[in-house]
Amino acid sequence: MVDITGARLGLRELRPDDVDAVYAIYGDEEATRHLSFEPRSREQVEAIVERSIASAGVDPRTEFATAVIRVDEVIGFARLALDPHSPRGATIGFALRPNVWGGGYGVETVHLLAALAFRTLDLHRIWGARAPLNEVSGRTMERAGFIREGTIREHVHVRGAWRDSVVYALLDHEWKTPAGFGG
Ligand SMILES: CC(C)(COP(=O)(O)OP(=O)(O)OC[C@H]1O[C@@H](n2cnc3c(N)ncnc32)[C@H](O)[C@@H]1OP(=O)(O)O)[C@@H](O)C(=O)NCCC(=O)NCCS
Repeated sequence: MVDITGARLGLRELRPDDVDAVYAIYGDEEATRHLSFEPRSREQVEAIVERSIASAGVDPRTEFATAVIRVDEVIGFARLALDPHSPRGATIGFALRPNVWGGGYGVETVHLLAALAFRTLDLHRIWGARAPLNEVSGRTMERAGFIREGTIREHVHVRGAWRDSVVYALLDHEWKTPAGFGG
């Protein structure tokens, strides 16, 4: 079970009653502008939350879709999925509700995913891919210690067109645990 606490935020398993909180992010035009999909309907978010909860029961587990929480309020969605052909590697994704942006929570969320990867799961490498226009996401990953590795050309098809992705990665021995993460 994922239950990780950082300085101000935590990661916990998704629950059925998180649908509205996830919809406030995945249904939002601004929050999804640079993501690989268009804003989701509430029904689609309900299905995503259902699938995510089901994925936690798969053995061996390969997907960790979690709620980002501030005290007991869900402010984000963070996901780690094991790379199918890369032992101890995983891809990450994260999105926060727009009205909490700009306060350092993005960087802390990426650190929480690193804690899940390197402490809980003993992984070696995690990586994330952002849209070329999503410079804030790149800045967020770099602030958490990720290194920019390059560009995957025409990686995703979204909003009717192919889009490149810019890739960032962090290795276990590169991660510097921030204050408030318990050593
Ligand atoms: C990406 C995201 C999680 C960042 O969250 P956040 O809480 O705003 O990020 P932080 O406050 O931790 O800021 C991280 C860095 O980005 C910078 N930043 C944040 N908002 C910015 C803005 N609007 N313009 C320029 N820089 C900005 C911060 O200054 C900080 O860099 P710095 O430490 O060098 O100053 C948030 O914008 C989001 O949810 N976006 C939509 C979903 C998304 O794009 N996810 C990533 C998919 S790859």
